[in-house]
Amino acid sequence: MELVTALEPFVRRATDDLVRAVALTTQFGERTVLDGVDVAIRRGEVFVIMGPSGCGKTTLLRHLCGLQQPTLGSVTVGGHDVYGAPPDLLHHIRLRTGLSFQGGALLGNLTVLENVALPLRENTDLPDAVIVETARMKLDMVGMLHASALLPSSLSGGMRKRAAIARAIALDPDIVYFDEPSAGLDPITAAEVDNVITKLNKVFGITMVVVTHDLPSARGIADRILVLLDGKVAAMGACETVWNHPDPRLRDFIERRLRAEEGRGMDVLAHLEV
Ligand SMILES: Nc1ncnc2c1ncn2[C@@H]1O[C@H](COP(=O)(O)OP(=O)(O)OP(=O)(O)O)[C@@H](O)[C@H]1O
Ligand SMILES: [Mg+2]
Repeated sequence: MELVTALEPFVRRATDDLVRAVALTTQFGERTVLDGVDVAIRRGEVFVIMGPSGCGKTTLLRHLCGLQQPTLGSVTVGGHDVYGAPPDLLHHIRLRTGLSFQGGALLGNLTVLENVALPLRENTDLPDAVIVETARMKLDMVGMLHASALLPSSLSGGMRKRAAIARAIALDPDIVYFDEPSAGLDPITAAEVDNVITKLNKVFGITMVVVTHDLPSARGIADRILVLLDGKVAAMGACETVWNHPDPRLRDFIERRLRAEEGRGMDVLAHLEV
């Protein structure tokens, strides 16, 4: 009985929504980009956001992670209203949130290890030896320990991305947001980044929210997928639910992506032949 009572909060937490967004609406001038979007991200899942270019995926991500207040609507993290939170609570929520956005480049004058150590140096009072050991552990988690001493300029695109992911998890976040983690990478390197995302989720239990254009990647990593079309949620659910959705606009979107990826398949062959 005691054991059941002790476990109960964990059992309940495992099914809780970590992030909830209700009726998000975003206006830029006259233009409504998001129009009443509801999202609930479950603790421990990989949640993928897809949709045509310019449909508002990055904007939605920015709202969810507390970077940009929507015109209307609310976002709660662990039950706390992000945009109504007092500054210290907002700071705490941000520390529990990892970001891996495009343009979040590594600092070129610091080694890979020091790049990963930086959030720990800036946000904790841990002794130097503990910071270095923690940074090494994060690099090991993404298969980059061997590159600790290198400068970012000597890394490949995929290694740079993995080092940036190690930095995003430096402070042991509950959730990490990725905006197009495979953008600019060849398909094989993109698959390596997907493997890192899956490992961090399955082995370390970190909740992941990933914006991607890449259908095979979405299929490989997602527990659930949300597709945004015309400012609204066109579909949300398990991969099969989304792929088999009857909405003709959604079928059209998926078929376009499949056609784009047929071209990409040729890229994989070209890459293998080199
Ligand atoms: N700060 C801003 N001011 C004005 N318009 C903006 C702003 N941020 C985004 N937009 C517009 O909102 C729309 C959605 O932008 P967003 O970057 O969220 O799209 P996206 O789905 O991420 O696109 P992509 O797939 O190309 O990355 C675009 O038309 C963009 O030009
Ligand atoms: Mg974007």
